[in-house]
Amino acid sequence: MSVFKEGFLWGGAVAANQCEGAWNVDGKGASTADMCTGGSHTQSKRITRTIEEGTFYPSHEAIDFYHHYREDIALFAEMGFTVFRFSIAWTRIFPTGMEAEPNEAGLAFYDDVINECLKYHIEPLITISHYEMPFALTEKYNGWSSRECVDLFVKYAKVLFKHYKGRVKYWLTFNEINAGTIPTGGFLSLGILNEGTTEFMKQTDIPNLRFQGLHHQFIASALAVKAGHEIDPDCAIGCMLVNITSYPYTCNPDDILKTQKTMQIQNYLCGDIQVRGEYPTFAKRFFEEKNISIQMEEGDSKILKEGCVDFYTFSYYMSNCVSVDPNKEKTGGNLTGGIKNPYLKASDWGWQIDPKGLRYTLNELYGRYQIPMMVVENGLGAHDKIEEDGTIRDDYRIEYLKAHIEQMAEAVKDGVDLIGYTPWGCIDLVSASTGEMAKRYGFIYVDKYDDGTGDLARRKKKSFDWYKKVIESNGEVL
Ligand code: BG6
Repeated sequence: MSVFKEGFLWGGAVAANQCEGAWNVDGKGASTADMCTGGSHTQSKRITRTIEEGTFYPSHEAIDFYHHYREDIALFAEMGFTVFRFSIAWTRIFPTGMEAEPNEAGLAFYDDVINECLKYHIEPLITISHYEMPFALTEKYNGWSSRECVDLFVKYAKVLFKHYKGRVKYWLTFNEINAGTIPTGGFLSLGILNEGTTEFMKQTDIPNLRFQGLHHQFIASALAVKAGHEIDPDCAIGCMLVNITSYPYTCNPDDILKTQKTMQIQNYLCGDIQVRGEYPTFAKRFFEEKNISIQMEEGDSKILKEGCVDFYTFSYYMSNCVSVDPNKEKTGGNLTGGIKNPYLKASDWGWQIDPKGLRYTLNELYGRYQIPMMVVENGLGAHDKIEEDGTIRDDYRIEYLKAHIEQMAEAVKDGVDLIGYTPWGCIDLVSASTGEMAKRYGFIYVDKYDDGTGDLARRKKKSFDWYKKVIESNGEVL
């Protein structure tokens, strides 16, 4: 008997700006993601304020999911997906965010995507905002630093809830909302583009603006949750965080305390607000010590309390260590690096591979929040090679996913209420941090390369058939 419950949701995840392409088609406006050039592991992508002639912008074509969604969803169905996590591009619905009426062509595109999923009994799990917003809102308001974005977002979310009512049961408000607690999240997650920023990895950071922007997102998320429940009482709306799992490097109490603080600010601040509906008590001292003063309006506490999420979702790729010793060797990572863990191996991009950390994380989160959990991103970004016979033997990816699913099973045995799993980039797509195609996560290979070439043909990797068996057996055959 499988330890995963009957009806456990198995599938995969993508985001609009990383797969759709068609960046200026059918009325779509430019998003913050559309202003990012290509980059690499060693060369940061750039953020440009206007589109530069002759510069490569990976989101502009991406893998052209916009014109391939039928073929792609058919392949997901062949693997047996029961859920598909994707995001809606705000700029397809409201090109600048400020229009009074939605763009019908944008709504129609997602009608088609959703209907295609439902045709195969795949539940759509929709992220309303995944690392993009209308660039017009960055230009006009410096993104989420302005409270104006709250109403604009809520207007957008309401349109989605109303239009897709009855067809979409699972929604997430903001992807990895806690990215706003770290400098890279300034532009990526909050659309804040301060004077002097040209490189994505080296943004001019104004922490006060960032945390103010985050407060606006909390309010917007809570209002959207409330509106969503009113519009469609049958839908469930979740939060989504990047889990930056941190271990103390040693048992030195200073390392322990520093780790606890890191976990509080990077993970629990956002989780506590979205699940419990209020700022945790540790926030006050952190804001005071960092000279951060957040402007809150009367009524904000009530809004937060009335907009608690129904389930908790997160991405998990890796873990790192925290130490008070500044000379410890560092490691790369998802949004933020940390101290290298001598017990772990890392991916080619320096992300430390730690399946047991997923069991640990699920236990920590469920113990804290006691609401259903979903792992909505997990996976190995790797260089894939097409063999002469045309196959792609991605055993390293199978090994990574297998080890993580095993640990999810352990967490379920530990008592965690886990309801779904959507590994990241189920089809190869553009990397969010580096803008590369070379960093591939998919079960499906896409013929597209970092110089923009490729015929976009889709090809199954070895992991495709492997994952199909995993789903068929509800996680028993790994
Ligand atoms: C998460 C994001 O942080 O990690 C995704 O939600 C992203 O958008 C994924 O693609 C993997 O990161 P990267 O940088 O390898 O694409």
